[in-house]
Amino acid sequence: MSNKDIYILGIESSCDDTSAAILKNDKVLSNIIANQDIHKDYGGVVPELASRAHLSNIIPVVESAIREAKISLNQVSAISFTRGPGLMGSLIVGTEFAKALGLSLKIPVIEVNHMQAHLLVHFINNGNEHPHFPFLGVTISGGHTQFILVKDYFKMEILGETLDDAIGEAFDKCGKKLGLGYPAGPLIDKIAKEGDEKKFKFPLPKVEGGDISYSGSKTAFINFLHKNQIKNNNFINENINDICASIQKNLIDNLMTKVELLSRNNNLNTIVFGGGVSANSYLKERLNKYSRKNNLKIFIPELEYSTDNAAMIGIVGYLKYKESLESNLKSTPSPRLSF
Ligand code: KG4
Ligand code: ZN
Repeated sequence: MSNKDIYILGIESSCDDTSAAILKNDKVLSNIIANQDIHKDYGGVVPELASRAHLSNIIPVVESAIREAKISLNQVSAISFTRGPGLMGSLIVGTEFAKALGLSLKIPVIEVNHMQAHLLVHFINNGNEHPHFPFLGVTISGGHTQFILVKDYFKMEILGETLDDAIGEAFDKCGKKLGLGYPAGPLIDKIAKEGDEKKFKFPLPKVEGGDISYSGSKTAFINFLHKNQIKNNNFINENINDICASIQKNLIDNLMTKVELLSRNNNLNTIVFGGGVSANSYLKERLNKYSRKNNLKIFIPELEYSTDNAAMIGIVGYLKYKESLESNLKSTPSPRLSF
């Protein structure tokens, strides 16, 4: 081991995944994620249950991350943790655990903004090319839909965001109406592959500028299902592929309109995605076509790094550690943390 090697323990607990990762400089040695299946029964994340599950998961997850990385706890140089945004009870578990461990090991703790981490995950060294600044950052998840001008690692400016629901939330709420369980995004993606995306048409919202809205699509979709089920109570079963393909097209059309507008207006020819919805295969197809036509560079994280994970918290910890951007033990969770 060279003296210059930095080992970061990253901890993520902002929503319903408890995750810990070990990075050696900018390389990931381990990235352990404990999903909380308990929320499936409720059709969405139950905050109280999420914080209880984090409490029981956090120590085993950190132990697994250390074990898999084949290092010992006293080799860790610093601990980075998600300070926000997220659910208060969930954030408390990761934040307080990180501070207590940092205190006992006498090493620095580093707070991380979860949304910045979804974009900076692209700076993990896994042999892939890194994006060049400036770029358009697009964070699309169950809790967020934001368009961000990224000028440097920590120079980010929000160009627009959802006025109501997040895109992942829209996928999940529409899927719930189809009886697909939670989270429904990945299933809609899969079922839509066999469907005709032009079969059913849903209106696109008219929102000026960089902001976006998803609540109209959800309402139009629910009304559409009700109307058709009155005529045919087997409507969903008989048309599930076309329904999924059509609503997916509507949600992605809406997103693409804003991505195209903001990249054009801000002269940005690199677009970087983060968050669970960037795993969507129809979105990837659309982005491929768009980038080829306009000579743009698109960065989409591998699946392991697109949904919530601690490796993204670890890489931000590493980048901040190098710039001595350490936090102190007074850092508290911030559910609405902004840039
Ligand atoms: O980033 P993430 O793991 O958690 C947060 O919400 O922060 O994102 C989860 C969201 C869920 O809404 C899920 O339905 C959606 O990402 N999602 C997808 C796909 N995979 C995950 N949505 C559409 N297509 C997918 N393939
Ligand atoms: Zn997230």
